[in-house]
Amino acid sequence: MNLSNESFVPNWSGSLSEGKAAWKSPSNIALVKYWGKHGIQLPNNPSVSFTLNNCNTQTSLQWSPKAGTDSKRTFLFEGEKNPEFGQKSFSFIEKIADYAPWLKELDLIIDTKNTFPHSSGIASSASGMSALALGLMSIEESLNADLSQDEFFQKASFLARIGSGSASRSLYGGLVQWGTHKESIGSDLFGTAYEHPVHDVFKTYRDTVLLVDRGQKQVSSTVGHGLLKDHPFADTRYQLAGKNLSAFRPVFANGDIDGFIDIVEREALMLHALMMTSNPYFILMKPNTLAIIEQIWAYRNESNIPVSFTLDAGANVHLLFPSEYEQKVSEFVDSELVGYCQNKQYICDHVGSGPERLNND
Ligand code: DP6
Repeated sequence: MNLSNESFVPNWSGSLSEGKAAWKSPSNIALVKYWGKHGIQLPNNPSVSFTLNNCNTQTSLQWSPKAGTDSKRTFLFEGEKNPEFGQKSFSFIEKIADYAPWLKELDLIIDTKNTFPHSSGIASSASGMSALALGLMSIEESLNADLSQDEFFQKASFLARIGSGSASRSLYGGLVQWGTHKESIGSDLFGTAYEHPVHDVFKTYRDTVLLVDRGQKQVSSTVGHGLLKDHPFADTRYQLAGKNLSAFRPVFANGDIDGFIDIVEREALMLHALMMTSNPYFILMKPNTLAIIEQIWAYRNESNIPVSFTLDAGANVHLLFPSEYEQKVSEFVDSELVGYCQNKQYICDHVGSGPERLNND
């Protein structure tokens, strides 16, 4: 796609008034993983993810022309001040200043909440940054009546990416790609709805998130990405990510569940193999992560029910399966897996249709 950073600098000279907007934006789970970046949050390989539904962030934004000389920012998490989370939003707002020049003229109140426990180990950056980016685009929309829906979401993805790479994939429903790839129109600057045919089975896929460890991660994603810089397997990894994205194409088109399982589990284990072979090396899986994986494999062999797993940068396991097996898999989770989850907690989610504008009231 022939767009550059400059394409996202708005031509703005309008007058500002006050306004309000609220957005619900989902988390996503990568099937081909983004691990390794350069420049301003640009990916070293293309990735593709399922957009989720139930794991989401709801953010409301209130803006008005600044009352003093400096613009005032207020951040509330679940209705209360939260300096740590606020800092993340404020530093994001600083980083995107060139693309939202009107922000320096505005006072802003950001009020946000997640549907999932924020210490659950589920990355809230994808849903959080995309919800905030959408709110900021609502401000831009109020200043530019010519902004099309496509441009709105494309720039929201562009902004969200600067906040957190994986957040760029939360702006569309279903399957979303981020990063250039020879077989597609994808861009490194923003996510795009997966452009090739997708079989119905993948439109309602289930993701039960098994919460193995709710603790703080020992190694942040940003540090993990950085360790790919001098990683001995980095170049091979980037090539394989591209190949896996190509291999997914007939799998998605034909509803090939066995093919899906093969690629998705290989990607998950490759991500963690990269962590284990970084310098310094680290392990984010816990004993219960491995115990769950073994149970999933045993159950798949015995029952022929096509459950599979993926992992993100943490110990939790995402149990993926076609919706038709929901009842049986739920029994499996309750009888065999829940004992490995911290406080017996898991979240039932599924492929969703993307962000939603909320009523302001
Ligand atoms: C393992 O998007 O959290 O979940 O860009 O530094 O914010 P930053 O990293 P982040 O990395 C996500 C990595 C991953 C794989 C993925 O979602 O593709």
